[in-house]
Amino acid sequence: MGYQNILIDTQGKLATITINRPTKLNALNRDTIKELNKVFLKLEKEKSVHVIVITGSGEKAFVAGADISEFADFSVKEGKKLAAKGQELLFNLIENLSKPVIAAVNGFALGGGLELAMACHFRVASDNARMGLPEVSLGVIPGYGGTQRLPQLVGKGRAMEMIMTAGMIDAKKALDYGLVNYVVPQEELLELCQKLANRISNNSSVAIGYAIKAVNDCFNTSINGYASEIDAFGTCFGTADFKEGTTAFMEKRKAIFPGK
Ligand code: COA
Repeated sequence: MGYQNILIDTQGKLATITINRPTKLNALNRDTIKELNKVFLKLEKEKSVHVIVITGSGEKAFVAGADISEFADFSVKEGKKLAAKGQELLFNLIENLSKPVIAAVNGFALGGGLELAMACHFRVASDNARMGLPEVSLGVIPGYGGTQRLPQLVGKGRAMEMIMTAGMIDAKKALDYGLVNYVVPQEELLELCQKLANRISNNSSVAIGYAIKAVNDCFNTSINGYASEIDAFGTCFGTADFKEGTTAFMEKRKAIFPGK
């Protein structure tokens, strides 16, 4: 199917999604969220794809937020629906995807843009990146998971300060906060993501899927993460990937995982 607001490029086991609304700094409007929902669901099913990178088009922005022009005149009811739908269709979907999703933050990641990056499993930034949750400067609060994921990633005090001041932090500070794992010059950003994706792709995709779930369960207060880990650990013993991984180790060769 054709997409209006996103580009997809698949090279080997890596699929790269580029949000492509550069004249609006890749702001997330309703249609873009719907397209992203479709493409993530599609890529999750594609066996050949092991890792997904998401980035923004142009050199200025990853995503400058939710599209303000779409919700400026919303009612209380519409506001709640906007947040609930967005969380369900995109942000929670990415966080719980069984395949690793890396955010390549190539410029402004503000509001919904930072929330999108935070829903990904980890983040890599270019040195021109600037990140923040400016919602209170618009009279609203982050609604796509920002009040939950930012404290998880940077700690409560730093999250409170970022949210209350509505300010931006630069890439260096984001690295210092642990919000991003690496900072590189912009021209090296996708190259580094590709290298990381290659390393990830050498491992068992099945085990990685279980690991994502177990790590996420650490932050799910309705679940005992340790029990979830025990369950997933045991389940791995019944997989072909586990047989191959342990056999290859014993035979002193590199594992070739069947992915099941
Ligand atoms: N929603 C809708 N449109 C947006 C947008 C957003 N979140 N962020 C940027 N745009 C649009 C601008 O309206 C402008 O469109 P126009 O050329 O049709 O007027 C275009 O993208 C370029 O943005 P501009 O503001 O001219 O660029 P800048 O370099 O002067 O400033 C930012 C860059 C990121 C500082 C500024 O665009 C900004 O503050 N954006 C909003 C960030 C925000 O509050 N996000 C949270 C939303 S909940």
